[in-house]
Formats: sequence, C-alpha cells, structure tokens
Amino acid sequence: MNNVQEPTPQRLKGKVVVVTGAGQGIGKAYSRRLAEEGAQVLMVDINEKAVREAAAELREASLNVQGWALDVARAEDVKRFADELSEQHERIDGLVNNAAIFSSLKLMPFWEIDTAQWDQVMAVNVRGPWMLVTALLPRLRAAGGASVVNIGSDAVWMGKPGYLHYVVSKAAVYGMTHAMARELGADNIRVNTLSPGFTTTEVPRETFTEAQLTGILKSQALQRVASTGDMVGVVSFLMSEDSRWITGQTLHVTGGLLHR
Ligand SMILES: NC(=O)c1ccc[n+]([C@@H]2O[C@H](COP(=O)([O-])OP(=O)(O)OC[C@H]3O[C@@H](n4cnc5c(N)ncnc54)[C@H](O)[C@@H]3O)[C@@H](O)[C@H]2O)c1
Repeated sequence: MNNVQEPTPQRLKGKVVVVTGAGQGIGKAYSRRLAEEGAQVLMVDINEKAVREAAAELREASLNVQGWALDVARAEDVKRFADELSEQHERIDGLVNNAAIFSSLKLMPFWEIDTAQWDQVMAVNVRGPWMLVTALLPRLRAAGGASVVNIGSDAVWMGKPGYLHYVVSKAAVYGMTHAMARELGADNIRVNTLSPGFTTTEVPRETFTEAQLTGILKSQALQRVASTGDMVGVVSFLMSEDSRWITGQTLHVTGGLLHR
C-alpha cells in the first residue's frame, strides 16, 4: 500500500441521503463519506446533542450535512420528520437505516432479558427501519432510482451469545431487506443489507470480550480488526449508480469471517 491520498470519487453529487444513528460511530462515518462523495446528508439520531455536534464537525470540513433529532422507534416522530423533509425535498435518493440499540447493550443470558428491553430493541432495530422506509416512500419513489441500505450484523451468523434480542432483531433486518426489495423493485428502489462484523469505533462497549475478539480474528481471513473506514466505501457504493443492478442482497463486510 502506498501513502498517496487518492481523491474521493464524486459518485453522489446532487443526491439527498438520510442516515440514521448518525450521531456517533459508524453512522457518523457513513455520513462523512457520503457527503465527501457529493451527497447532501441528513443526519438523524435520538441523541440530539451528539448529532448536532457531529453535523457541525462535518460542516466545518465544508461538507453539506444537517443534523436532526429523531427517535426512529416513535411512529408520530417519524411521520413528522418525513413531512418536514417532504416540504424541503422533492426527492430522497437514499436512506441508510443504521440506527440501532447496540453499543449501550449489556451482555446477558437471554433468560435474563426482560420484555421491556426486548420490545425496545425490536422497536428501534426492526420497526424503525420499516417505518422510515414507509414514511419516506413517496420521496424515495420520486427519486426514480433510490437506494435503501439496511444495516445488519454478522452477529446473526455467529449466533453470538449474550444479546439474543439484538441478534434476533438483526436477523429480521435480512428478511425485511429481501421482501422490501421485491415489493419496491417496480419503483426502481433498491434495498440491500450491509452486514458488518466486529468494527471498532470511538465508542467503548461491553458487548465484545477479549476472548470473543481473539476467536473472531481466528475466524477472519484478513488478520486485523476492522474500523469504520472499512465500512464507508461499501455504503457509498450501494448508494451509487455503480451498484444499480444489485438489490435484495447482503454484503458481508467482515474481512472474510467464516461461521462454523
Ligand atoms: N460496531 C460494530 O462492531 C457493529 C457490528 C455489526 C453491526 N453493527 C451495526 O452498525 C450500526 C452502527 O453501529 P455503531 O457501532 O456505530 O453503534 P452505536 O451504538 O455506537 O451507534 C448507534 C447510534 O444509533 C443511535 N440510536 C439509538 N437508538 C436510536 C433511536 N431510537 N432513534 C435514532 N437513533 C438511535 C444512537 O444514539 C447512536 O448514535 C448499528 O446498526 C449496529 O447494530 C455494528
């Protein structure tokens, strides 16, 4: 690898893209890369302070982004968001359903998860993406070639112990992608899943123990730990015309993780 910094391609010039869970972590990194490729990015997060600060940081780098506070699990908020957006934009070209209850999760045996926690994870990780696509559908249709990227997780294929509600919620995302892709194909709206493996961000979390991390490295073909930079090019590819014939698919962005 040489150290020459290649210019970022401008594949998304003129496109308007919504990214949820954009206040931190991979969602913030997706937002940066999509904006660097020329998109106007509407950054959404339940954490208003975080998303406003993240958007301000990206604007300082002359990127075209806005921050919005939104709880993707609340139907009335999602509808209000879509209505406000519709007043400002005739079309929405892309949606990255990245928001999830994830880094704040504590590992525990499934028999200790209570029903309120279970329902909350499902509401954010499954109902949220469905409600957003539904609410934005008129504007996605108007784009005449929109792309929806649902963020899954290879924790599903690992059968990762310690957070069954999360694993089940991400398994549902795969089904949602495949069925949505079928129902939206006639509108030329593509729907795909980007499925990361273990990926480091600036956010510390308890959901991976040292022993599990060692096990994951043994199962990967590529022998290093992934960071957000390993994910962002894939999301911009899926947003771009370069992926125009890909829909209903899952891209495992995992360094060749094998599941045995
Ligand atoms: N980091 C990894 O190792 C990894 C691996 C596989 C999949 N993923 C998936 O990638 C995505 C991003 O991961 P991350 O590591 O950046 O996670 P993270 O927990 O750091 O960030 C999630 C973001 O979503 C926001 N959010 C949570 N609930 C919300 C709600 N109701 N409405 C709006 N926003 C809400 C949070 O405030 C946060 O900013 C998630 O979907 C996660 O499941 C991550």
